[in-house]
Amino acid sequence: MIVVTGGAGFIGSNFVLDWLAQLNEPVINLDKLTYAGNVQNLSSLESDPRHIFVQGDIGDSALIRSLLQQYQPRVILNFAAESHVDRSIHGPEDFIQTNIVGTFRLLEEVRSYWNQLEVDAKRDFRFLHVSTDEVYGSLKKEDPAFRETNRYEPNSPYSASKASSDHLVRAYHHTYGLPVLTTNCSNNYGPYHFPEKLIPLMIVNALAGKALPVYGDGMQIRDWLYVKDHCSAIRRVLEAGQPGETYNVGGWNEMPNIEIVRRVCTLLDELRPRADGKPYSEQITYVADRPGHDRRYAIDASKIEHELGWRPAETFDTGIRKTVQWYLDNPEWVANVQSGAYRDWVETNYADRTA
Ligand code: NAD
Ligand code: DAU
Repeated sequence: MIVVTGGAGFIGSNFVLDWLAQLNEPVINLDKLTYAGNVQNLSSLESDPRHIFVQGDIGDSALIRSLLQQYQPRVILNFAAESHVDRSIHGPEDFIQTNIVGTFRLLEEVRSYWNQLEVDAKRDFRFLHVSTDEVYGSLKKEDPAFRETNRYEPNSPYSASKASSDHLVRAYHHTYGLPVLTTNCSNNYGPYHFPEKLIPLMIVNALAGKALPVYGDGMQIRDWLYVKDHCSAIRRVLEAGQPGETYNVGGWNEMPNIEIVRRVCTLLDELRPRADGKPYSEQITYVADRPGHDRRYAIDASKIEHELGWRPAETFDTGIRKTVQWYLDNPEWVANVQSGAYRDWVETNYADRTA
C-alpha cells in the first residue's frame, strides 16, 4: 500500500495510472482538489478497488494521522504542491501554506507513524519528495547543467517554497533518521497538463485561433522531459535510491521557449491544419516578460543514470508528437477544464469515496 499526495494533478495522475498499470499495489490518493486537481484524469480507475481517492489537505494533521493508521502504507510519495510560477508571483500565500507548512505537517505525521513501525517496516519505509530543478536558480549560457551538489538559489516564490520544503525533508532525515528521498526534475510535458503551462496553453490557444503569448524574447531555456519518463524515474528512485540522497531527473533536452512554441505549431500544421491553410506560427505574439524570469535551467542527470540505471524512453520529438496528438484526441477533457466542468466531477463520481 502506498500513499500518493497530489495524485489528481498533472504528474500525480500520470504516476497513479502508470503505477496501477504496472504493479498490483494499491494506492491511497490524497488530493485537496485545488483548481489543478482533476479526478477526471483518473476516470479509468473509477471501479478499480486498488485506487482509493481521498479529498483532503496534506496540512490536515488529523486526516493524515488517521489515513496512516488505517492503511499502514510502506511509502509516501509527495507530489502535492502549488506548482505554477506565474500564480506564485501574483499570490504567494497558497504556496507558503501548501508547499512549506503542508509539507512540514505531513512530515510530522509521517515521522510519528514511522517511529511506531516494527523494525523491518521501519527500515523499508520511504518518504519520497517530488521537487524541481527551479530550486537551483538560473544558469548563464556557459554554466554547466545543475548537479545535485549545486547551491540552492531559488528566485520565485514558487521555487523558494519548494526549496524550503526540500530543506525540511532533508532535515527530517538528518535529525530524525526518516528514510527520505528527493527528486529534482526539469519541465514535464504530456497528457493531463493543465493549460496554464507553456506547452498545453500553446496547443489549446492555437486550436482556438487565439494568440500564442511568448514572454520577453522567448530565448529562455528549459530542459523538457516527457511526464511518463519522470514517473519511471520516481519508481526507480523509490526502488533503489539511497535514503537521504537527492536525484536530479531530466531529459538532456535544453530548448528555448520560442523553439518549443514553433515545434508545437509545426506539428499542428501537420496534424490539424488551419482552415485558412496558414501556419499556426502566425499566432505567435511576444508579450511582457515574467518578473524575475529565470533565463536557463539545465539538468545533469548522470547520477540517476549511473547509480540507478534510469534513462528517459522518449526523445523530445517522440514525446511532443504524442502530447499534441493527445490534446487533439481529447477535446472533451480540454473543454471541461476550460469551462470549469471538471470541478463537478468529484461530486458526481467520487462523492461516496471522499473522506
Ligand atoms: P499540479 O499543479 O498539476 O498538481 C498538484 C496537485 O496537488 C493537484 O491535484 C492539487 O489539487 C494538489 N494539491 C495542491 N495543494 C494540496 C494540498 N494542500 N493538499 C493536497 N493536495 C494538494 O502539479 P504537477 O505539475 O503535477 O507537479 C506535481 C509535483 O511535481 C509538484 O510538487 C511540483 O513542484 C513538482 N514538479 C513539477 C514539474 C512540472 O514540470 N510540472 C517539474 C518538476 C517538479
Ligand atoms: O522546471 C520545473 C518547473 O517547470 C516546475 O517545477 C513547475 O511546477 C512547472 O510549472 C514548470 O515551471 P515553468 O515556469 O518553467 O513552466 P511554465 O510552463 O509556466 O513556463 C515555461 C516557460 O515558458 C517559462 O520560461 C515561461 C514561458 N512561458 C510560459 C507561459 C505560461 C511563456 O513564454 N508564455 C506563457 O504563456
